[in-house]
Amino acid sequence: MELFDVYPLLDLEPVKAKGSYVFCDDGNRYLDFYGGHAVISIGHCHPHYVDKITEQLNNIGFYSNSVQNPLQKKVAAKLGELSGYDDYQLFLCNSGAEAIENALKMASFHNGKSKVISFNKAFHGRTTSALNITDKDAYTAPINQSSEVVFLKMNDLEAVEAEISQGDVCAVVLEPVQGIGGIRLFEDSFLQQVSQLCQAHDVVLICDEIQAGFGRTGKFFAHQHAGIKPDIITVAKGMGNGFPVAGTILSPDFKAKHGRLGSTFGGNHLACAAATAVLDVIQDEQLIEHAAQIGDQLLDALADLPQIKEVRGRGLMIGLEFPFPIKELRHRLIEEEHIITGIASDPNVLRLLPPLTISEKEANQFATAMQNLLTEHQLQ
Ligand SMILES: Cc1ncc(COP(=O)(O)O)c(C=O)c1O
Repeated sequence: MELFDVYPLLDLEPVKAKGSYVFCDDGNRYLDFYGGHAVISIGHCHPHYVDKITEQLNNIGFYSNSVQNPLQKKVAAKLGELSGYDDYQLFLCNSGAEAIENALKMASFHNGKSKVISFNKAFHGRTTSALNITDKDAYTAPINQSSEVVFLKMNDLEAVEAEISQGDVCAVVLEPVQGIGGIRLFEDSFLQQVSQLCQAHDVVLICDEIQAGFGRTGKFFAHQHAGIKPDIITVAKGMGNGFPVAGTILSPDFKAKHGRLGSTFGGNHLACAAATAVLDVIQDEQLIEHAAQIGDQLLDALADLPQIKEVRGRGLMIGLEFPFPIKELRHRLIEEEHIITGIASDPNVLRLLPPLTISEKEANQFATAMQNLLTEHQLQ
């Protein structure tokens, strides 16, 4: 059998990884400024993470959600404590798209409506409702256009107000910092006003923190920079540091009913061990503060790069926009500097999503490599 060929692949074959580095079969060590697509939060193969998952696997790896599993309660308690959402409720699932599906479903159960406001360049995943609110026609089949959605311009408060005032909006869904869209930030004042509008009109505010959450932007959740409290928050990626685990976090206004949500694998013993280990390390190593500090230093260091058009981001979620496609630059970074970076839907944007554990030295190594490449080569 052949693989279904849907991924454009880099010519890299990682065989081992440690901390901020990936070791490939070509014998080289690569600095990981992509974090395996924003997934590696506490660094590759962190010893505490490896120990906790190994220990769990030696006890019990999986049993179904039809029995008691106190490990899930442990994840929920620790997540509530570290994020400041003690009073919210957690539903555990396996992937970001699934977390979004559950969020939309709960919003619609809650207020009985189905129209959703999403934003230009949004990405929320590849299952039906998630694709319906994703702004990318090439990913969306006719069968995915399941319910009414409007895509508005980011930070256009009047447009949101006009839609919401019609009375039929179920939910507003947004990534506080758009990831695949090219590291674009919603303004804090816009988020605050949208939050108020949602409260006033019985509209559920869903913050998709799948990429920006778990400390990446220098706060536990990116929306916390704006001081708002959404009704539902979705998490995945950094939550498991590579172990597939995700969650839909619901305010106390949402009442659970047996059977409304469910998953065979969601919240299994191994996933809980991984998520708890990640939270332990985030807390013990003060990774959120670290991400904020190193992120600020990087943003400063990268602001003056030759040929740069704009540097955007918060913490360790950074976008570098150039006046030319970054394809050649990204390949040169891999081949000449042994640094892996990410792309965005905008071909001119290089996306940086390193582990939250990167050191000042590693951040400087990246800034110097960029400086050298962009001084030596006139790219276009
Ligand atoms: C903001 C955001 N939401 C949702 C998803 C979908 O997550 P998954 O690929 O785990 O389904 C992603 C994945 O890149 C994402 O960045």
